[in-house]
Amino acid sequence: MTNMAGLPLRDEAEGETTGLAHNVVTGTIDTSHGTILYVEDVSVSFDGFKALNQLSLTLNAGELRCVIGPNGAGKTTMMDVITGKTRPDGGSVFLGQTVDLTRLNEYEIARIGIGRKFQRPTVFENHTVFENLELAMHADKGVWSSLFHKLSSLQREKIHRMLAQIRLTECVDTLAGLLSHGQKQWLEIGMLLMQDPQVLLLDEPVAGMTDEETERTAELFLSLAGKHTLVVVEHDMEFVASIARTVTVLHEGRVLAEGTMDQVKNDARVIEVYLGR
Ligand SMILES: Nc1ncnc2c1ncn2[C@@H]1O[C@H](COP(=O)(O)OP(=O)(O)OP(=O)(O)O)[C@@H](O)[C@H]1O
Ligand SMILES: [Mg+2]
Repeated sequence: MTNMAGLPLRDEAEGETTGLAHNVVTGTIDTSHGTILYVEDVSVSFDGFKALNQLSLTLNAGELRCVIGPNGAGKTTMMDVITGKTRPDGGSVFLGQTVDLTRLNEYEIARIGIGRKFQRPTVFENHTVFENLELAMHADKGVWSSLFHKLSSLQREKIHRMLAQIRLTECVDTLAGLLSHGQKQWLEIGMLLMQDPQVLLLDEPVAGMTDEETERTAELFLSLAGKHTLVVVEHDMEFVASIARTVTVLHEGRVLAEGTMDQVKNDARVIEVYLGR
């Protein structure tokens, strides 16, 4: 795109452009108002059924937000919209003040700093724990070029710090396929973190974990809050209670209640549709 003088337009000159001529520049998320994610009046319909019905919520930079609600409430669909997997029928989704996520595709949204953890772990089973983190650090290169790429000492340090954080130092040379379910989940979270995401979306991260693994995951999430913004969807209420700051309750595609764990636990509407059952 050029202007009348044949010079590139500002957008193109300053950053990478997408097919929509929208700037995708990492590290420029404007959180000057303290808010990192705005979801406003978002609706999604599947064959006339409203999975999200004018959903609105905002997240502050660095917060740890838990999202709960009955099956079919729209929790996963909300994550699908934020990550560009599902396009909303209406409404807006902004990262910071300026980045309109509804104009970006999944790949661009991941690159700009929103990481997502699906329920099932997806690690490279035939590679070691170390290699998995290494591959994640060079996610935009191919598998072969990143495995033969010599690591700098800084990169090596970063991997070792991550191993300690996700408690897998002892398993550094273990093939990922041999890890327990919980360890695979931590490894995948570590792989997401290697990309330094601003926002991390975690869908039912402790499902299938042992009690001890669940407790360790709570510690991990608490240690990540502040450095990253975390959105945790979970049905395990004991786990939610152990990490919760603000809890958002979704029901029928919209926010039913929001507050501290105690506030939502004692909310008559929440008890009726979810916690009381
Ligand atoms: N691709 C799709 N096509 C049709 N219907 C869908 C699709 N994805 C979700 N739905 C429907 O939208 C509603 C919301 O689903 P969603 O998966 O977001 O719920 P959820 O809150 O994540 O539930 P759960 O706690 O069971 O994971 C459900 O009724 C679901 O059947
Ligand atoms: Mg779900």
